Amino acid sequence: MATPVPYFSLNNGLKIPAIGMGCWMGDVGGGPAVEEMCANALKNGYRHLDTVRNEEHVGKAVRESGIPRNEIFVTTKLWNDCHHKVKEAFEQSLNNLGLDYIDLYLMHWPMAQIDGPEEHPTIVDTWKEMEKLLETGKVKSIGVSNFGIKPLKRLLSQCKVVPVTNQVESHPCLPYLELKNLCEDNGILITAYSPLGQSNRVFLADPDMIKIAESHQVTPAQVAMSWAVQRGTVAIPKSANLERMRQNISLVTLSDKEMDLVTSLHKKPGMHRSLLAYHHDGGVVFGWTYKQLDWPMDKGGFVIDQE
Ligand code: A2P
Repeated sequence: MATPVPYFSLNNGLKIPAIGMGCWMGDVGGGPAVEEMCANALKNGYRHLDTVRNEEHVGKAVRESGIPRNEIFVTTKLWNDCHHKVKEAFEQSLNNLGLDYIDLYLMHWPMAQIDGPEEHPTIVDTWKEMEKLLETGKVKSIGVSNFGIKPLKRLLSQCKVVPVTNQVESHPCLPYLELKNLCEDNGILITAYSPLGQSNRVFLADPDMIKIAESHQVTPAQVAMSWAVQRGTVAIPKSANLERMRQNISLVTLSDKEMDLVTSLHKKPGMHRSLLAYHHDGGVVFGWTYKQLDWPMDKGGFVIDQE
């Protein structure tokens, strides 16, 4: 039997729906298709939308939904070419959305990129500007995204406000156990983006996933969503398809053994890896090396296992 999508508490006392609609449609903007997807998501019970450079369309769907604004959780992001103008970028986002406030504003990358990969302003400088935004009342929570262990520790040692979340790619091939522990120790929720692996959904065909899915009479994708939420992470799967978007918020309760099986899936040969297409030239993500990002990966996004 499906269980309702729970809400998690953020470290500032606010609540976040444990599943949201990820709005990356494969290119910047996404057009009316984003608006239609968000409108359908809201009609089908979603109350959490995560924008990806398509704020106008997401905002329009929120405004026209007829659902009270305070029942919908809206996340948007500071892009890496705007670290030197946080206030301006934030105002632009708010304007694009056409909303009075944003529930969650994320520093999307742990690196500024203005004139090249030199890090200026630092992530701490940028965070201090984001902290100031809280005083305006136009944003309720601030967080980070794509932060590995080192940049997160660096931020934690100097911030006044602890990020509410660290949004990273996460799914059964990339459970980020060590990062998750660090986040949990500091009251930070992990938000899993691309929790289905975007277009590379290899783990859905794993025999253990299929077996667990069959025993609950759900799909492997629902097992992945249930696992994500049951392990205490927020997940933001994207689906423009009505049946699949409904599936993704219909969760089941997994047994401890089933949870362990999914958590161990990444230990199978070749499975511990990022599944996204942004690993350009084998070892660079948007111009940054894994070392700069502090991602524990090697060419193509395969995780370097310590054990
Ligand atoms: P579609 O929009 O046609 O449903 P991610 O959220 O990891 O980025 O993955 C998004 C991709 O996974 C999209 O291509 C989406 O396609 C597909 N997808 C979403 N939900 C499911 C599901 N329940 N089963 C299989 N594929 C899904």
